Amino acid sequence: MRDIEGKVAVVTGGASGIGRGLCEALAGAGMRVVVADIDAAGAEETAAELKHGGAESLAVPTDVSDRASTEALAETAFREMGAVHVVCNNAGVIVGGSLQNATPDDWEWILSVNLGGVVNGCHAFVPRLRAQGGEAQIVNTASVGGLLSAPGLGVYCTTKFAVIGFTEALRLELQSDGIGVSALCPAGVRTNLLDADRNRPARLEDAGGRADSIKDALEAGIEPIAVGESVVRGIRENSPYIFTHPEFRDIVESKFKGILANFST
Ligand SMILES: NC(=O)c1ccc[n+]([C@@H]2O[C@H](COP(=O)([O-])OP(=O)(O)OC[C@H]3O[C@@H](n4cnc5c(N)ncnc54)[C@H](O)[C@@H]3O)[C@@H](O)[C@H]2O)c1
Repeated sequence: MRDIEGKVAVVTGGASGIGRGLCEALAGAGMRVVVADIDAAGAEETAAELKHGGAESLAVPTDVSDRASTEALAETAFREMGAVHVVCNNAGVIVGGSLQNATPDDWEWILSVNLGGVVNGCHAFVPRLRAQGGEAQIVNTASVGGLLSAPGLGVYCTTKFAVIGFTEALRLELQSDGIGVSALCPAGVRTNLLDADRNRPARLEDAGGRADSIKDALEAGIEPIAVGESVVRGIRENSPYIFTHPEFRDIVESKFKGILANFST
């Protein structure tokens, strides 16, 4: 979608980290931005910052793991902004530790946000985008952890592999509607992800572990605005995958070479 100026973007998880960087970059490219987050005060803060910078913006408290809440987001976005052209299903959380130590509460929480949030977002917005007609773009936040798994990150990677599978299929299904679909695959980004438990529902409090194995990678990571700028390029080019860390290219290549090698055994 080449022409994004003046058009409307919806970003989930827009109160913090990558979501906030997406909001800033999209507003910087001239878009009007709906900031959705379970952290209502944080969403208001991002929207206020965008308005201060001259962009039209609206905060909508949203729990992406809840289908009714995500439907209400879509309803509000179309009603208040008149149209929607870009949807970034970005809100996400992390659980660390071994698969053996993961609790049923861990699985329920992370699947409901990381996978359920993307599914709910697409379920709410795709029919409305199709009915609206014209070009649109969906960007689902996966991770390099959606292509490469690692010990201690198996629970998280399971959800991100699922986001990639979902995104690839949706891209093929929506091709003839003129709706592009991209998977955003960052590696270390300096965000509040390791404090994801701040948004964990009390009823799912039995936690298996923290993702401290990636603490250094996050602290040494790139800034969220750099991810936002890559996403603006990815939207303009309708990239199937949006990468932000070129150093992972060779590791991904060697993984797929390893898979191909198994065809000849
Ligand atoms: N930080 C990284 O290095 C990195 C790398 C790859 C992928 N990601 C992905 O990027 C996305 C954003 O994470 P981040 O790193 O910016 O973390 P973050 O914690 O800074 O931001 C996550 C945002 O999601 C919101 N959120 C959490 N649960 C929610 C829910 N149920 N409904 C609505 N909003 C909810 C939080 O309030 C927060 O504003 C996630 O999907 C994460 O998996 C992050």
